[in-house]
Amino acid sequence: MLSTGTETRCDARISWSPWSNRDRLAEAIGDEGVPGWPFDSSRHESWGPTGRWLLGSWLEDLGLDRSDVVTILTTSQEQYVSICVSVTAFNHASVARVVTDRTRVVIAIHEFGYVDAAFPGQCEEWRASGIIVVEDCAHVAGLTVGSARVGDYGDAALFSMPKIIPASTGGLLRTRKPFHPPAMDETMSAAAMDGKAAAEQSFPYLDRFNALRLERHRLLRDGLGLPPSEPQRPTVSVPWYSMFVDEEHRVDTAAFPNVFWGQATLEANRLQIPTNPLVPLSQYEALVAHVQLANS
Ligand SMILES: Cc1ncc(COP(=O)(O)O)c(C=O)c1O
Repeated sequence: MLSTGTETRCDARISWSPWSNRDRLAEAIGDEGVPGWPFDSSRHESWGPTGRWLLGSWLEDLGLDRSDVVTILTTSQEQYVSICVSVTAFNHASVARVVTDRTRVVIAIHEFGYVDAAFPGQCEEWRASGIIVVEDCAHVAGLTVGSARVGDYGDAALFSMPKIIPASTGGLLRTRKPFHPPAMDETMSAAAMDGKAAAEQSFPYLDRFNALRLERHRLLRDGLGLPPSEPQRPTVSVPWYSMFVDEEHRVDTAAFPNVFWGQATLEANRLQIPTNPLVPLSQYEALVAHVQLANS
């Protein structure tokens, strides 16, 4: 704990991307055998510099009309959508937050690692009615949902490497139909290849990463003494953010300058703390101990 005048700071260091703790990869995966690629489906895999770029290129390839509707659904359906998705979609079609009779594409964001338990059934219904479904798996990969893994249900599944594994760049789009992304310049290609190399190294260990995320989530939930904030509907989850409601401001976020306090919400009093699998558990313990002491 560091003291700065009248205030007490905590030097716990929790970032959102496993890239920041990439030196801990070997320790995290241990010396178990190498598990396999974390999907139960066989798909065309396209690599790109970012998830956004792949999503935009794929929407372009669908040949949408601007009066067509791309419906963006999030697990919570709260008033917040990542601009990486909304702005990208807006460039190709009208954007809606509900399925309409002009919906041609549904982008289902498995928001912050929470997957609606009803999603596999909904996805099947949308696809049966001719709607193209892309699962946005920016926040969760490897998780078993029903009879398959997240990303196995839609026509396509989008992944953003830096959010889930130690990678500084890169995105992956898995599609049922062949998809040929547009040409990339040298910088974009290098970013795409870096992301692919990182995925080849880390994707087989996503189950392990997910177990580490759950461990961090449980520690925060048990230690902070705050009501958890979770989607209303039943979900299957590996939280990417551990989320809480902090109406009485038990947590003075300013006292933690090295913790990435999420901003991805319009809800008042919501705390979002990344469950970064490569950040040592001791950093989470330090955060919890500091909050407990400040409130004792
Ligand atoms: C839900 C969601 N999907 C997709 C993306 C795009 O990922 P990338 O940063 O790889 O472009 C983001 C980016 O923040 C996101 O929040």
